[in-house]
Amino acid sequence: MSSATAEPAPGDGPTQAGPWWRDAVIYQIYPRSFADSDGDGVGDLPGITARLDHLVELDVDAVWLSPFYPSPQADAGYDVADYRGVDPLFGTLADLDRLIAETHARGLRFIVDLVPNHTSSAHPWFTAALAAEPGSPQRQRYIFRDGRGPGGTEPPNDWQSVFGGPAWTRVTEPDGSPGQWYLHLFDRGQPDLNWDLPEVRAEFLDILRYWLDRGVDGFRVDVAHGLVKQLDLAAAHPPVEPVTGEGTEGPRPPMWDQDGVHAIYREWRRVLDGCPGERILVAEAWVQSAERLAAYVRPDEMHQAFNFEYLEAAWTAPIQYAVITRSLAANEAVGAPTTWVLSNHDVLRHASRLGLPVGTPRPRGIGVDDPQPDAVVGLRRARAATLLMLSLPGSAYLYQGEELGLPEHTTLPDEARQDPTWERSGHAERGRDGCRVPIPWEADAPAYGFGPGDASWLPQPPLWAEYALDRQRGVVGSTYELYRTSLRLRRELRLGSGTVYWLTSPDDVLYFRNGELRVLTNFGADPVELPAGAELVHASGPLDADGRVPTDVTVWIRVAEEPVRDSGPAATGR
Ligand code: GLC
Ligand code: MG
Repeated sequence: MSSATAEPAPGDGPTQAGPWWRDAVIYQIYPRSFADSDGDGVGDLPGITARLDHLVELDVDAVWLSPFYPSPQADAGYDVADYRGVDPLFGTLADLDRLIAETHARGLRFIVDLVPNHTSSAHPWFTAALAAEPGSPQRQRYIFRDGRGPGGTEPPNDWQSVFGGPAWTRVTEPDGSPGQWYLHLFDRGQPDLNWDLPEVRAEFLDILRYWLDRGVDGFRVDVAHGLVKQLDLAAAHPPVEPVTGEGTEGPRPPMWDQDGVHAIYREWRRVLDGCPGERILVAEAWVQSAERLAAYVRPDEMHQAFNFEYLEAAWTAPIQYAVITRSLAANEAVGAPTTWVLSNHDVLRHASRLGLPVGTPRPRGIGVDDPQPDAVVGLRRARAATLLMLSLPGSAYLYQGEELGLPEHTTLPDEARQDPTWERSGHAERGRDGCRVPIPWEADAPAYGFGPGDASWLPQPPLWAEYALDRQRGVVGSTYELYRTSLRLRRELRLGSGTVYWLTSPDDVLYFRNGELRVLTNFGADPVELPAGAELVHASGPLDADGRVPTDVTVWIRVAEEPVRDSGPAATGR
């Protein structure tokens, strides 16, 4: 298919309450690891197209596709060398057009990843910057500075890369002499752009229009909190926990969540609003509070922002209650829905994360000699957490493979690791490969059906046959069927556009009403009785022999005879 289309996707049924994205369930495809069509061991666009009916069966609303652009793959494609193309590793632009068209033909929306904080070091702009003089217009597109100390041998400041090591790399000048330094908050192959420069802003407006014209329904904006830096080189400051600024008291780190980013997204929003078909922006912004995050989804900015505070919240009733109420309130204050998420390509899969002792800080990868998650507890909690998440109003993101209950690959051989974090951290952090392993489709096929042969860019664990789609499909009680039923009921009962009303419950239990449905999650050690007159609608796991809700199970129930008294979305007692 050669012709691009700007037509909005079909699928706005007459029952749709508001704009599609406010309650959408969006499925993240990580193209390297979804499905491989040509047997090179790397997933690709034709592979995705061939498997699209899986998303129809699952009944999601949209796809978010992680980067497919031409790239040296220093950070699995988050190092973009050409913002208007497709890497041959994944296919061609024609393959992408076909994928978009086939997605739309199934009534699903299609969102692409946009990486504005940095380019690849192989981007023509960066090549030109290296060839040009210090102070030249070519260098001004990036953040070049002279080094400190005699001969400029020290980096301009002490900023650290998110992946470990200094955030500055020294270049060799065209005449062969040791030269300036450039900033890269991530890998050295990802030089940060200078967003103070109008030319950079104009270029990204053009990139937005390019993809909007090709028919995409929106953009997931990578590192949305990082574009504007307070690069006061004189002001030394203590190293901060990268990305989140976690563990630091006091002022925000000077590279994250600066107020200046918002003007950029207001400008982008005007471009999207000028297009037909409700196109959206979703922020990847690791910021400190629900209120700071809500600033990204004010009415004239982005539409959604991943709720990472929720993703990171410990598995206890009080903590889950606090994060849910805080998120809903902060977003309501700006008129935005909350965007729930439990897994993505950067974090330990939640079926493993929740199998670590409660309260364990989220590890950045797990290796064979680290404490291993409890797979049984982890899956049980993951199922309960997913059912809880899908009962909350707002939109939700799913990461490929979570519908199979896939765990993290925690015993990946170190020599197989590809995430730059592993090398850059001096082998202190295993990194993110464990959640990026190609997913299992067929238990008995080579590479579990990921591709036509054995090849898989990361080795798959030996025990993954039991997670394969064909072992779960149609099997009552499987995680896959749990997801399917949950998504169908969520749509039928319109949970995504509902309201949370908290109901009274014991300390270890979350209990609320959303529309006609009541949701109860038991975090405690003891089983809890169903409320009197409750009819069980759906559950993340079996009830016990006495019909009680066991530990780490979420149930959806109806309580018919009680009169419903709305007191408003109570932020008080559970
Ligand atoms: C985002 C991406 C991550 C990438 C980083 C740098 O956090 O999700 O995968 O490494 O940005 O682009
Ligand atoms: Mg391939």
